[in-house]
Amino acid sequence: MALDSRLFGEIDPPQRLLMGPGPVNAHPRVLRAMAADLLGQFDPEMTGYMNEVMALYRPIFGTQNQWTMLIDGTARAAIEAGLVSLAAPGDKVLVLNFGRFGLLLTEILSRIGAEIATVDVPWGEVVPLEAIGEAIARTGAKVVATVHGDTSTTMAQPLDGLGALCRDAGALLYVDATATIGGMEIAADRWGADVVTGGLQKCLGGPSGSSPITISNRAAEHIFARRHVEQGIRRDDIVDGGGVRIGSNYFDLAMIMDYWSEKRLNHHTEATTMLYAARECARVVLGEGLEARFARHAAAGRAMSAGLKAMGLTLFGDDRHRMTNVTPAYIPDGVDGERVRSAMRENFEIEIGTAFGPLTGKVWRFGAMGYNAMKHKVLITLGALEACLVAEGFKLPVGEAVPAALRAWGE
Ligand SMILES: Cc1ncc(COP(=O)(O)O)c(C=O)c1O
Repeated sequence: MALDSRLFGEIDPPQRLLMGPGPVNAHPRVLRAMAADLLGQFDPEMTGYMNEVMALYRPIFGTQNQWTMLIDGTARAAIEAGLVSLAAPGDKVLVLNFGRFGLLLTEILSRIGAEIATVDVPWGEVVPLEAIGEAIARTGAKVVATVHGDTSTTMAQPLDGLGALCRDAGALLYVDATATIGGMEIAADRWGADVVTGGLQKCLGGPSGSSPITISNRAAEHIFARRHVEQGIRRDDIVDGGGVRIGSNYFDLAMIMDYWSEKRLNHHTEATTMLYAARECARVVLGEGLEARFARHAAAGRAMSAGLKAMGLTLFGDDRHRMTNVTPAYIPDGVDGERVRSAMRENFEIEIGTAFGPLTGKVWRFGAMGYNAMKHKVLITLGALEACLVAEGFKLPVGEAVPAALRAWGE
């Protein structure tokens, strides 16, 4: 059978502006870096780049941790690597459950065979520190796992003080910072977090497929105690620990750390092109400056919120704890949310986000992250949304949203 001739055409995607909860458009410098030639995984240039990546991501994570590196795969690869390497079957783990991604942590932990307890709050809220302390004491958890910014609800869980609570109880703290890294402050050392993971495709302004991770010395000790090097690559200078073997080969942080160390254990073939992307994302972030970058994301979030409210829309969730980079608004009564999303895409080439779980069909989520946390992109999105809502017959104060957003950007 003859193949459809369209299959031979060069890939030529439409120029969409991605203003949802991620992925977002990658910074052009990142895309250019990805076009660079490949290297062998133990080429000294390549291992040099690996060391540079370790150095570049330490300030981004707010840490001095030696073990700061990349996991090959999308953000959930690093989540899975962190959790499977910290928790063994039967271990007691406490999960802060305030949205879809807290549920993802419980899902991954249940596959590991951990004994899971949760401390739950309704979507749109964050978990109070006292409730966490009480739950750690009640459950005797050895690992506490939480999301920093949960994109499903847009809530950012306050984390100052949590590490100290965990340490006092002899527990390790895992944090999923996928949606905040590069856009809001990540303070792994100040929080006292033991493992923090991210992804490139949101505020770091890269494509999905590589996940930065940082691991405290305390967690590294725990993980190396579970080291079990696979048979084909065993070496006399790398000794197994006595602990329970980590229940995944690909996500075995002990072997991955040995690969990223000067031992260069031959674990996996590092995803060269994704490493180039991760390295360039970090260089763009640090070149801008962390404070300036957080301020830019905050301005974009402020402007988006002000514009949505000026249009007569109501925001979802606790204003005091909203992430700066994703803003959720209720879909007004009588408006077909999916028809508006289609009109945004078809007429304006703009993608906005839908929602999960109890918020499905009730809210839209507007992101302004990384390369897209820019004044003109926020204003264009608001102007387009206003036009789509007017076309739907929604009565709104025409012409108010964009000036309100402009004012809020400058505040
Ligand atoms: C908070 C959070 N955690 C984890 C993930 C999963 O990331 P990925 O789809 O890259 O595996 C996402 C993606 O939206 C997220 O927002």
